[in-house]
Amino acid sequence: MTTTSETHTQTPLATAHAQLAAAVRHLGYDDGLHANLATPRREVHVSVPLRMDTGEVRLFHGFRVQHNVSRGPGKGGLRYHPSVDIEEVRALAMWMTWKCAIADLPYGGAKGGVAIDPREHSSSELERVTRRYTSEIMPLIGPDTDIMAPDVGTDEQTMAWVMDTYSVNRGYTIPAVVTGKPVAVGGSLGRNTATSAGLVHVTEAALRTAGEALEGRTVAIQGFGKVGAHAAQIFARRGARIVAVSDVDGAVRADDGIDVPRLTEHVAATGTVAGFDGADPITNADLLRLDVDVLVPAATQGVIDEETAHDVRARIVVEGANGPTTTEGDAVLARNGVVVVPDVLANAGGVVVSYFEWVQANQAYWWTEREIAEKLEHRMVTAYDAVTGLARREELSLRDAALAIGVQRVAEAHKIRGLYP
Ligand SMILES: NC(=O)c1ccc[n+]([C@@H]2O[C@H](COP(=O)([O-])OP(=O)(O)OC[C@H]3O[C@@H](n4cnc5c(N)ncnc54)[C@H](O)[C@@H]3O)[C@@H](O)[C@H]2O)c1
Repeated sequence: MTTTSETHTQTPLATAHAQLAAAVRHLGYDDGLHANLATPRREVHVSVPLRMDTGEVRLFHGFRVQHNVSRGPGKGGLRYHPSVDIEEVRALAMWMTWKCAIADLPYGGAKGGVAIDPREHSSSELERVTRRYTSEIMPLIGPDTDIMAPDVGTDEQTMAWVMDTYSVNRGYTIPAVVTGKPVAVGGSLGRNTATSAGLVHVTEAALRTAGEALEGRTVAIQGFGKVGAHAAQIFARRGARIVAVSDVDGAVRADDGIDVPRLTEHVAATGTVAGFDGADPITNADLLRLDVDVLVPAATQGVIDEETAHDVRARIVVEGANGPTTTEGDAVLARNGVVVVPDVLANAGGVVVSYFEWVQANQAYWWTEREIAEKLEHRMVTAYDAVTGLARREELSLRDAALAIGVQRVAEAHKIRGLYP
């Protein structure tokens, strides 16, 4: 597992199981239901042989996990990262189940991954890996069964290859088999910025709860990929001050505020935030310790653990990444009075607009960007209000309240459907 510090950080699956156990305790469910909710419905392991551009053949391992399908088809991203393994994919699939339920989408949770470093491969090699992986998991996926989207290391081009491979094998074009694909082949307007836009909506709502506006607030963002970079742009446009950002190669800080459009140009030219001349270099660890209003971990899991959580001085942590805070890290943040807006709520904007994309593709009728932005804001604020309402009524953290809502909705669907046979 990748972490900023190579310590014995809790694994994502252990974190996910601990969160579920807390929700199950709160809801008073029995062991049978707990086991059902903790266990994936289906999972496949596949071998993905790749003919490299040199002619050499290498073998990679891929996975697809459908954690729960009680509320609808599996939904979840495809991750390309060297540390991907079945346990990580199980954790990510479980978080998707709760996230879709919290956002009240008619989906279950799924996730896929290939243990490969996309930075070491050409575009044509990645295309061959994607097409072979898609062929191997073909019996499991489909617009009514399991719908993929981009995640770490994959993007809209990856989704276009998945859709094409699936469609060619079926004999006609099926855009609804993936979301997060290019607009030219049935993608949705607003999907590429949706996770970040949703994250900014819940940040604004959290500040509003504290009687504050977003304008003038200081923000530090870990990760400058699809989620982090768009979040920085949207925060800056809304008047917040981005004081630090990082990526896997380094971090930069400017207390007067980073010029985000100029930083974006620098990243487009060099591939990293490191070396940006409009800010001072700091370490990734320093970024987590900054005295800011809002800290957005938007890179990877397990970065706020028992050790690093002690140094977090932000007032609000808004989780862009999946699983950035371990159970022990959560406890430390709670003791120190740091409000955590949990991943299953904070980064749900992506799957919300993925849902809109799927609905549009199924109807072959596309909405305007404004319609999508309005519907996204409504969904995010509705979910946020439900979570904060329960947290207040039952004196829970936002994470425990979010999990309780998600788990309860899934369990309810499971109970109403009954047990077959
Ligand atoms: N893309 C989405 O729509 C979406 C939706 C919900 C959740 N997420 C989650 O958000 C996180 C980021 O996803 P993404 O799609 O932006 O991925 P991405 O691959 O586009 O970007 C990841 C970024 O994190 C940086 N990074 C990686 N390890 C780091 C480290 N140890 N320290 C600092 N920076 C590091 C990378 O350099 C890159 O800038 C993941 O946890 C993902 O599961 C993504």
